[in-house]
Amino acid sequence: MVGHHGTPIALLRLLGPPKGLCDTGGTPIVLSLVPDGHGLYTSAELLRAGDLVAMPTETVYGLAADAFAPAAIVKIFDAKERPRFDPLIVHLPEGPPDDVVEGVVELVVLASRGRERFGALTDHFWPGPLTLVLPRHPRIPDLVTSGRETVAVRMPDHPVTQALLEAFGGPLVAPSANRFGSISPTSAADVRAELEGRIAAVLDGGRCPLGVESTIVAIDRDGALRLLRPGALPVEDIETVAPVERAMARGDTAAPESPGQLSRHYAPGTPLVLVDDLETPAEGPPSRLALLRVSGDPDLARRAYEAAGHTVVDVVSLSRGGDLAEAARELFAALRRLDDCGADTIVAERSPTSSGLGFAIEDRLQRASALR
Ligand code: TXA
Ligand code: MG
Repeated sequence: MVGHHGTPIALLRLLGPPKGLCDTGGTPIVLSLVPDGHGLYTSAELLRAGDLVAMPTETVYGLAADAFAPAAIVKIFDAKERPRFDPLIVHLPEGPPDDVVEGVVELVVLASRGRERFGALTDHFWPGPLTLVLPRHPRIPDLVTSGRETVAVRMPDHPVTQALLEAFGGPLVAPSANRFGSISPTSAADVRAELEGRIAAVLDGGRCPLGVESTIVAIDRDGALRLLRPGALPVEDIETVAPVERAMARGDTAAPESPGQLSRHYAPGTPLVLVDDLETPAEGPPSRLALLRVSGDPDLARRAYEAAGHTVVDVVSLSRGGDLAEAARELFAALRRLDDCGADTIVAERSPTSSGLGFAIEDRLQRASALR
């Protein structure tokens, strides 16, 4: 058996006849595991050995490593080609928030208003797609926080993520399981397309139910809340608990506080342009196009572009009925499909609304369209 990237040979023997693994003349193949007792045990063993395992969450697939093992965490940055200045989210097991953040976060550093808001937000939204940026515990490796005084934490709401955290027995760091700047994966097949040969295994939990990343909110020492990334939890929901400053999540800062919020991100290889309305094409030379609508009838868009002289290679409407949850769930898979259809350009229509999940959809499309 050809040396599988970072996988202990003894463990591979233990697995018996290779299932997701085959010898392709020296090219390592990612081990595909089903999330039963055997798959969870194997994943936890790989993580304990310092290897990387891609895991499903309710938002997108994450690339997991032991949160307290710098030697393993370094492999995440290498596999993703991610710059070291971009810090990672620590994923926590289910349990009372004050207990599960112990040794990761230092809540005592927060003023009482900050501790109250931590309690209220976690009460309402954990487990779930809300990441909180909080004062770090000194035990947390610098690689996790990129040397910052804060650490990002969340408690995922997915049975497979929670089963893996339990089997592993400690917190896991996990960025989205894609190469840096590329489209986040929402299925095990997407993970393979991004990271084949670079990681030990992928735990296949099917499609991610939410489809966009968690919403990131910083709780400052004085208790002020700042939105750092719009995501799967609408900011309006958070504002029912406490006011949220939104300025940080908008705009194209060269050095955003959440470095993952660089202006170009979530980007297909095919150039993507954003337009207001796909039913009235702008003038331009005929070209081979892929069309993406957030809602509405895909055929109306196709006909309008064909009438304007273009070749429409493929067209996707994320939710014909305008259901934003469905649109968010389908967004990244649609971007991958359109990226692979052989078009010269993807023309995407802006979200009809920027409230609720429309904010996250608009943000991802905006970044996908930013110039290289
Ligand atoms: O839904 C999610 O959040 C997924 C799943 C796998 O949990 N994870 C994810 O991770 O989206 P990633 O690494 O692709 O994005 C994490 C973002 C980055 O933009 C990073 O800059 C920001 O979180 N971040 C992490 N720690 C931070 C900190 N201490 N201060 C500010 N931003 C932070
Ligand atoms: Mg990411």
